[in-house]
Amino acid sequence: MAIISNCTSSVIKDAALALKEGHLVAFPTETVYGLGADATNEIAVARIYEVKGRPTDHPLIVHVSSMELLDKWACEIPEYAIKLARAFWPGPMTLILPRTGLAKDFITGGQNNVGIRVPAHTVALTLLKEFEAQGGLGVVAPSANKFGKVSPTTSTAVELELGRHLSNTDKILDGGASTIGVESTIIDCSNVQPLILRPGSVLIEMIEGVLGVKLNLGLVATKVTKAPGLLANHYAPNAQVFLTGAPTPGDGYIALSDLPTPAGAIRLASPKDNIEYAQILYESLRFGDVKGLKRIFVVPPNNQGIGLAINDRLVKAASN
Ligand code: TXA
Ligand code: MG
Repeated sequence: MAIISNCTSSVIKDAALALKEGHLVAFPTETVYGLGADATNEIAVARIYEVKGRPTDHPLIVHVSSMELLDKWACEIPEYAIKLARAFWPGPMTLILPRTGLAKDFITGGQNNVGIRVPAHTVALTLLKEFEAQGGLGVVAPSANKFGKVSPTTSTAVELELGRHLSNTDKILDGGASTIGVESTIIDCSNVQPLILRPGSVLIEMIEGVLGVKLNLGLVATKVTKAPGLLANHYAPNAQVFLTGAPTPGDGYIALSDLPTPAGAIRLASPKDNIEYAQILYESLRFGDVKGLKRIFVVPPNNQGIGLAINDRLVKAASN
């Protein structure tokens, strides 16, 4: 499966056509790379589950080019969800809303809600616009990794994760490294008040700012099983991840740059702040696997800003 690195408009148009014809297209977003399929094509969507090794009751996010298409997929949309969409789309935010008849069980895992996102990445947006120009209504795109594993933030990582399962009519589009590095903030908008199911770079305080309400911590779901990404043992590399204790010689080590490397440990990354930490986290874990490390010790950042999302992913990566 070749990576297409020069994503000209004609390359993207061909990729949109491939999606329309039922093939899979992996594409870059600002959060992580997604593995896309036509959200209305049951056979194409079934291939996503097969390629990822993902259980079919785990719902997928529909990606569209603008909030104009929201009504096609979702109904009974609360006013606060519209405000969030206006404020943060295109961007790293997924809204969970009551579904219309278009959102079939084969994308929602049988749930009555559907997840929707407008990504902020030129290649992704151009692909979605082309797909819609050809009559498409939405592209489902989970992170382009094996189920439970580390999300890819580069096209090379997609190839490494899934390349052997893709056919030569599928495509991997390259759009550089994802600038955010962790998945979108997921907000359940199916109730009177928003519930954050997965933290991301649209922060709680940003949501509170737009809605003019204070979200108490009870509104940040920590243990719900509604979004399987919240289950333990996700985002995990092959190496075992430790968030406490000290590495012994030959173990991997990830920490902010102001922390020195313990003697004999293999430094995998030294981000200067939480934003850079999010950008390099998944690539660093993957690097540990490429080096064949058995154990990676990670010093988690504080919970400031995107630090909350990093800690959320690290706890799951370490719980195997
Ligand atoms: O940043 C992202 O959101 C990336 C990029 C590619 O857009 N996508 C992504 O998709 O992270 P995925 O499938 O790897 O994770 C989506 C999460 C899963 O935990 C899933 O359970 C949850 O979203 N989800 C999707 N639809 C849902 C629904 N109807 N109700 C509750 N959770 C849902
Ligand atoms: Mg995922």
